[in-house]
Amino acid sequence: MRLDKWLATLGKGSRSEVRQMIRDGQAAVNGQTVRDPAADCDPERDTLSLRGTAEDGRIMRHVMMHKPAGVLTAARDNRQMTVMDLLPAEYRSMGCMPVGRLDKDTTGILVFTCDGELSHRLLSPARHVEKRYRALASGVMDETDTALFSRGIDLGDFTALPARLEILRTDAESGTTLAEVTVTEGKFHQVKRMFAAAGHEVRMLHRCSFGPLELDPALPEGEWRELTDGELKALRQAACMEDRTEKA
Ligand code: URA
Repeated sequence: MRLDKWLATLGKGSRSEVRQMIRDGQAAVNGQTVRDPAADCDPERDTLSLRGTAEDGRIMRHVMMHKPAGVLTAARDNRQMTVMDLLPAEYRSMGCMPVGRLDKDTTGILVFTCDGELSHRLLSPARHVEKRYRALASGVMDETDTALFSRGIDLGDFTALPARLEILRTDAESGTTLAEVTVTEGKFHQVKRMFAAAGHEVRMLHRCSFGPLELDPALPEGEWRELTDGELKALRQAACMEDRTEKA
């Protein structure tokens, strides 16, 4: 990758701004000042510093966010806050995007990546990546519901694949059920629609896990962190992607 493209992708300025920075001698690669904007660099291997300060030059970022309620899963919105507003601006310029979506009122784990292929594979219906949700639903659910979920539910426009429903607690007084459901698809409003088809309204929905990743209990709502190497490896395995870093 050209040095000017590398810096622009990292959000260090526009192409013309970073070219000027490079010509001014502000950029060093592997400790050597480089004044040629077209200089060939390897963001995975080369070290980068700007004005003498070491920079994190990785252009692939992979993030876990604890999505709060009230925030849209969208790249941008003119009126409402989106999950992208919770990440630093440079993550957007690096092309870091949410993998799938959660409804505005849903909380829990949301994964972001700059790796389009990884994202595509994780979302592919053929991959059957498991997602586990905790739901507070109206009504007292029982084994009839568990059986219904396990058979797959006809939702009119499609039949949801069999899902695992575990009833954690029922409360006859308030007429509610706390349950966990594990699905392998990600269709629009799928979990809420499955509960509705069984005659229960979802009042609160929280995603606890996405594929092999559990929401970090130390991550407060609205906060995010980069995936650990182990988490990324597990995610890539779930996507059946060979580990390029290991092979290199
Ligand atoms: N299913 C839903 O109904 N909503 C979500 O946010 C995620 C899954």
